[in-house]
Amino acid sequence: MNAMSEGWIDVCAVEDVPPNGARVIDRGSGVCGIAVFRCGDESLFAIEDRCPHRGGPLSQGIVYGQRVACPLHNWSIDLASGQAVAPDTGCTRVIPLRVARGRLFLHAAALAAAGAAAALPSCPASAHAAASAAANEHA
Ligand code: FES
Repeated sequence: MNAMSEGWIDVCAVEDVPPNGARVIDRGSGVCGIAVFRCGDESLFAIEDRCPHRGGPLSQGIVYGQRVACPLHNWSIDLASGQAVAPDTGCTRVIPLRVARGRLFLHAAALAAAGAAAALPSCPASAHAAASAAANEHA
């Protein structure tokens, strides 16, 4: 990782991330790396490089649309929210990202928080959970 600027850390050039692929930002031993994804539509996302199922390396998965299919058991993870796509549940931590002058920057405070927390984050309410709750009300 490189210079920090106003709370953002310069991690690499956009061109360093392969289209429909990912690049891992290594944060040292014992700390989960950050997978930066570049989708076919040129959208970019950064999430922790571990699947909410059993910790598979999402950076090695197949990118399709704005999702990645985990290489271990094929769960799909939404790259914008970090949430597993229904019927699977769970989520991985999303790191805010911005692009300036062809460089990628990750939010420094979010990175620090992710490094300090060993556990996966709790998921915000998802459409799947809301649908399940609605279904239960009518059961
Ligand atoms: S570890 Fe990712 S689907 Fe099982």
